[in-house]
Amino acid sequence: MKRIAVLTSGGDAPGLNACIRAIVRAGYNFGLEVWGIKRGYKGLIEEEFTLMSPRDVSGILDKGGTILLTSREPRFEKYSFRKRAYQNLKKYDIDGLFIIGGNGSFQGAYLLAKEFNFPVIAIPKTIDNDTYGTDYTIGFDTAINTAVWAISKIRDTTYSHERIFIVEVMGRKSGFIALHAGLASGADITLIPEYPYPLYIIKESIKKALDRGKKSILIVVAEGVIHARELALILREELGFNEDDIRYSVLGYIQRGGSPTAFDRIMASRFGVFAVEEFLKRKYKVMISYEKGELKTKPLEITFGKIKKPNLRDIDFNNLLSLW
Ligand code: F6P
Repeated sequence: MKRIAVLTSGGDAPGLNACIRAIVRAGYNFGLEVWGIKRGYKGLIEEEFTLMSPRDVSGILDKGGTILLTSREPRFEKYSFRKRAYQNLKKYDIDGLFIIGGNGSFQGAYLLAKEFNFPVIAIPKTIDNDTYGTDYTIGFDTAINTAVWAISKIRDTTYSHERIFIVEVMGRKSGFIALHAGLASGADITLIPEYPYPLYIIKESIKKALDRGKKSILIVVAEGVIHARELALILREELGFNEDDIRYSVLGYIQRGGSPTAFDRIMASRFGVFAVEEFLKRKYKVMISYEKGELKTKPLEITFGKIKKPNLRDIDFNNLLSLW
């Protein structure tokens, strides 16, 4: 019986458990034995291997976080620790490693596969959706829905107090969450790193709207552009407003947790089963990608050093619909 192992690495994202479940159950259905590795690369180095049965993944499809736990493990950047990880995989007779991770984790996955000729399959997850080579990453849909849910509550205060409100969302250096949450929330201004607005345009847009009699303005800003607090200070100063007029809120980690949406559960299940199928076809050193509605495998290295951009048409749509 062949053995495979699965780990989750990097920031948690809703849908990780759904993907673990899919790998474990598809694995057993195809005659494989499945092992879980705790705490990502940390557990791979420190030999935290645990045998998983299909029953062990009961009741986790709808749970946020990851039952396998996760970490960001800087030691994996060193060859000596990757070698130790490889030796552990050999010790447990593992024939293939499934890594559910983001950009950083994929680099480690690639090196492990290349240096030791070890079969590795990477599955993209991150609420940021910024992995190049796939249209979708597990967790993104839930993160947007959480952001939209939170923004709609903030909008009530924005409207009732006739304020300018700045909401900061996550995304690291990318604007996918902000752009999608902004469009879905009817934000008046959405600021993303991929489409920089000079400050004077932001000021002009606000002034014009206020002159037209608009009383409240909602701004969604990606953390990769500027922090909400800093933007609030600048706008108060530049527009001559006080603290009561311009408030801000940072959504933070609520975007990373929670029960995955139906879409994330479906995508995570698809990714997991497809990954096992591809492994059985001997597709190694690959990432699973979802492009134009289709699941594919791609060479893992295509994702490195490239920036995935959101569809900037959404900025036009947002602009046409906002600030009324
Ligand atoms: O990559 C997901 C993400 O939540 C980013 O949006 C954010 O910048 C980062 O992780 C925060 O990471 P940490 O868990 O190290 O605080």
